[in-house]
Amino acid sequence: PKDVGILAMDIYFPPTSVQQEALEAHDGASKGKYTIGLGQDCMAFCTEVEDVISMSLTAVTSLLEKYKIDPKQIGRLEVGSETVIDKSKSIKTFLMQLFEECGNTDIEGVDSTNACYGGTAALFNCVNWVESNSWDGRYGLVVCTDSAVYAEGPARPTGGAAAITMLIGPDAPVVFESKLRGSHMSHVYDFYKPDLASEYPVVDGKLSQTCYLMALDSCYKRFCEKFEKLEGSSFSISDADYFVFHSPYNKLVQKSFARLYFDDFLRNSSFVDEVAREKLAPYLSLSGDESYQSRDLEKATQQVAKQLYDAKVQPSTLIPKQVGNMYTASLYAAFSSLLHNKNSSLAGKRVVMFSYGSGLTATMFSFQLREGQYPFSLSNIATVMDVSGKLKSRHEFTPENFIQTLKLMEHRYGAKDFVTSKDSSLLSPGTYYLTQVDSLYRRFYAKK
Ligand code: ACO
Repeated sequence: PKDVGILAMDIYFPPTSVQQEALEAHDGASKGKYTIGLGQDCMAFCTEVEDVISMSLTAVTSLLEKYKIDPKQIGRLEVGSETVIDKSKSIKTFLMQLFEECGNTDIEGVDSTNACYGGTAALFNCVNWVESNSWDGRYGLVVCTDSAVYAEGPARPTGGAAAITMLIGPDAPVVFESKLRGSHMSHVYDFYKPDLASEYPVVDGKLSQTCYLMALDSCYKRFCEKFEKLEGSSFSISDADYFVFHSPYNKLVQKSFARLYFDDFLRNSSFVDEVAREKLAPYLSLSGDESYQSRDLEKATQQVAKQLYDAKVQPSTLIPKQVGNMYTASLYAAFSSLLHNKNSSLAGKRVVMFSYGSGLTATMFSFQLREGQYPFSLSNIATVMDVSGKLKSRHEFTPENFIQTLKLMEHRYGAKDFVTSKDSSLLSPGTYYLTQVDSLYRRFYAKK
């Protein structure tokens, strides 16, 4: 098969949301801390009727319907998630309900978990399958689904929730450059979920930021080496049109792109002009460790990279700023934002993607884009996702109601024998929602 990649996409996020400006005031944080300091506008969250299973049921159904895909045509289904509902039974098996009713139980794949990286692992599994000898000619389907919630404290405004679905096959408008992957994986305790009775992670915020940037440097270095080996010329940020980052919060994305600029400066890339060279020269002597801690360096690089950031990164920031950290779905929601903002003008462009999962696992990889043929075209994907429509039809909760919802969810996590309010009034038609968990912990969903 040729030109294997993403044929179609859809995104779902809960309509329930809280404004960061309101949350900031409510939490007694200084004005601008969440909106400018973290760079976030709004945050989506699940109420008691939604969870990672209902969101993925909604997103998968929507993709199959909107692109008119016969469920029998799916040969592999891979789920990436770090939201644990069951320690054995995969989210994928819940999604099998949608395929069993059409007589298709011949579908490989299970769930992949490592913090925010599981979606990328799922995506690579599907792409590798289509490119392999065991491919049977059918489509792969990738689902990234997470509900990101944090205990009270500084990390709470960096939550979010969403599910993304991606259809994988040959002759795609979003083509993988499969030879260009640079990974960095190691053992770190920056963010993890050791308390199985709680949905909240244990997080060392500062360490996680540094780990993210170190992994970025390392992946970029390997990505560049592979590019040079393959193409015979050196790679710099001027060789890609767009950079899309895993987005825990927007400020880290700004810092990340600035870091790539600094890496290119250190590698003597020719696009770095005289003015920028002069500004960055004082930081040449910093050790690696010092360079991650230097706020002056951060400021100087963000300043010299600003114009390129606006052109190459900003178009991918919309959904992450509006919905928050969607964990496994975050990187792909950022990519969806790019398709939404630029759609058919993207033909012929190269996009570099950076996936990071705490713990830690990270990969940089790239896509070549082309318009493709309806229904698998860039412009149709943008139409189907209807990002503007979904953002507009949201409902704002007050910070008090948001916190009340989280309290209720704390009690419900891991619980059995309860019925939900079954209140689907805020959900749009076609959305799945949780109705009941019975005495044997079995979960039941309905469709609005
Ligand atoms: N106006 C403007 N900016 C402000 C204001 C203000 N009033 N107040 C603070 N800021 C800035 C700070 O200067 C800082 O920006 P800088 O980093 O450019 O200097 C930013 O706002 C954040 O302020 P901090 O004091 O550093 O924030 P805090 O330590 O309270 O928490 C953190 C931030 C660590 C990101 C926390 O939210 C967290 O732990 N989140 C979860 C971990 C995470 O997302 N890690 C990322 C990778 S791992 C993953 O994806 C889960």
